[in-house]
Amino acid sequence: MKIRNCQFIISAVSRKQYPMEDIPEIALVGRSNVGKSSLINMLLNRKKLARTSSTPGKTQTINFYKINNEFHLVDLPGYGYAKVSKSSKEAWGGIIETYLTNREKLVEVIQLIDIRHKPTEQDIQMYNWIKHFGFKGIIAATKLDKIKRSQRQKHISLIRKTLDMNKEDILVSLSSINREGKELLWETIGDAFLQKGYDITIEEAAEI
Ligand code: GTP
Ligand code: MG
Repeated sequence: MKIRNCQFIISAVSRKQYPMEDIPEIALVGRSNVGKSSLINMLLNRKKLARTSSTPGKTQTINFYKINNEFHLVDLPGYGYAKVSKSSKEAWGGIIETYLTNREKLVEVIQLIDIRHKPTEQDIQMYNWIKHFGFKGIIAATKLDKIKRSQRQKHISLIRKTLDMNKEDILVSLSSINREGKELLWETIGDAFLQKGYDITIEEAAEI
């Protein structure tokens, strides 16, 4: 994917703050600290466009980024952070549900799972929720650099089994540190746009 330009648009909490611009979008969701913001930076070849941190629960708003003036990438707030109060957990559910049900141009949702760990009950619920709202769901198994090559298949199989994924369901494993899996994820995103009838230019990145 050739990134001609990308910009941060807005950190939104309520629906009225969502960008009005009528372009398709792809959202990322997952546990707090799983690597959503890092993945956005990796996909866009930027170090600090999306804020990352070692403190879980950092991103609590919906952050919209505009790519090549053609589509949005959307960083959704993370779930599963034990220290947040019950009321903020409920608020989280409301924020996500409002988002998922109100974006006509939402093409697909990418759910991140840490490749090292078995998906949690909340991960399973989230995946089911994505399907329930009519998306295929793309699983991005992150932090691939943290496990040995010989262990990959075992971890991927556990994720597929725990989420009850079918053969056709897509899982891309990747690392935001060494960038493995990046082009495959862009291709997967390009396919999702195509399937929904959007003509987005996913050009092959130039080899440097
Ligand atoms: P919240 O905003 O709290 O929901 O977190 P997030 O999902 O946006 O995670 P973030 O991108 O901030 O990453 C959390 C931590 O994981 C940071 O310390 C990142 O450097 C690290 N991290 C993210 N992706 C990878 C990866 O692929 N490999 C490794 N080794 N570390 C990663
Ligand atoms: Mg984040």
